[in-house]
Amino acid sequence: MADTIIRNATIIDGTGADRFVGDVAVDDGHITEVGETSGSAAAEIDATGLVLAPGFVDVHTHDDGALLRHPDMEFKISQGCTSVVVGNCGFSAIPAVPGEPTLDLSGMRAEWRDLDGYRQNVEKSKTAVNAMMLVGHNTIRSLEMGGDRRPPSDAELERMCDHVQLAMEQGACGFSSGLIYRPGRWSDTEEVLELAKVVAPYDGIYATHMRNENDYLLEAVDEALEIGDRAGVAVQISHHKAAGKRNWGKVKDSLAKVDAAVADGARVTLDVYPYTAGSGPMVQYFDIDNPNPELAKAIQLASCPAYRQYEGRMLIDVAEELEISVTEAVRHILTAPEGKSTICIQHIMDEGDIVSNLRHDRVMIGSDGIPDLTGKPHPRLFGTFPRVLGRYVREQGVLGLESAVRRMTSLSCDVHGLHNRGRITEGNWADLVLFDPDLVTDIATYEDPKRESAGIRNVWVNGQLAFQESLHTQIGAGKVLSYRKH
Ligand code: ZN
Ligand code: CU
Repeated sequence: MADTIIRNATIIDGTGADRFVGDVAVDDGHITEVGETSGSAAAEIDATGLVLAPGFVDVHTHDDGALLRHPDMEFKISQGCTSVVVGNCGFSAIPAVPGEPTLDLSGMRAEWRDLDGYRQNVEKSKTAVNAMMLVGHNTIRSLEMGGDRRPPSDAELERMCDHVQLAMEQGACGFSSGLIYRPGRWSDTEEVLELAKVVAPYDGIYATHMRNENDYLLEAVDEALEIGDRAGVAVQISHHKAAGKRNWGKVKDSLAKVDAAVADGARVTLDVYPYTAGSGPMVQYFDIDNPNPELAKAIQLASCPAYRQYEGRMLIDVAEELEISVTEAVRHILTAPEGKSTICIQHIMDEGDIVSNLRHDRVMIGSDGIPDLTGKPHPRLFGTFPRVLGRYVREQGVLGLESAVRRMTSLSCDVHGLHNRGRITEGNWADLVLFDPDLVTDIATYEDPKRESAGIRNVWVNGQLAFQESLHTQIGAGKVLSYRKH
């Protein structure tokens, strides 16, 4: 007898193939039958009218710390996500020094040194979702060189390469950079190239938050493609966007660049989140001595430990209330105690560029959510996947449901090496989501961002029921995965 049979589901198998109606049986963590099932199961579900898809993979996350701090991962499970890729934008929880804060965005106290140690800690905490690791450039550079604004010595570069190699040995899927952030921005192309080369023998990926996403977007794409080409690795362009009104529309040009490179034999894929605002550590976006007023006017405060009362508000309104200029308000926030921990939201993108991204068949979905649950996080943390399915598939018809699911599942798993996942096929791990295609939608907004989405019925992780009708089962079946292995 199987553990679970889901009957009469509309199956979208993750490959992009057309939907069909059938049953899926799950036993011992795996999919054992697809189509017609024989026999019975301990749990049987009638899924008439509902879509059964492979569990969604959030390919761009900063959940390294959240897997330990919030093992229920309710903000991901409730979207139908069963796996997350961590260590993005050059910030990863590994490597770390035990007892010291990690050099990722969570800054939690590390009880590990490397990926093996991190894996043990996460699995002990019984986390709800699977995770795949990228090792981050900012992290290894901080570890070996602090915040120094200079090229590494040969010895430093060698130690940085060793960190990348160890992570790859222990199952990371690749190396990530965040070249707008300190200290990564102090590196030149050659430094990043040397580190990217280390992942080549593992056929890992180079995931990049590029050096520029506004006036020099196209030049930054060139740098990413050059690194991929010279290192001989696949490139993943993170949260593809064109920021700032004068750059809106450029996404089409950079997609054309990617298409040309792919036609030439390069391996390049991208990810996008379906919102016109970005988010990140505020201190990283401003020169405190000379804050950019244009950007300052586009800032909303997400979490602001110094002034909780400002959370959720536009900086320009705070400035007006304080009777100071908006650039003075930037300084006021960032120089306050704990000001450097402020997370902001920047309203700087164009809806048309989101649509261009979503229409492109090499673009996957990644939330880029920052799981600081104390303030008012960007709504992408809770809403990304249902928003694509509701707003862009059902309401606007920007892309088809099968195509959207493929770019949340099989493509994501193939590129990031989630082995035997991302497709509904016999023998694969039973990471599954059952949702109502007529109802699925995001509920989280900038004003009220910590709202779980609607229309997600059931979620299974490694064959175990993690979520049912808005109830989190707390089964904790997630694993830290190894690239192309398990
Ligand atoms: Zn980023
Ligand atoms: Cu990111």
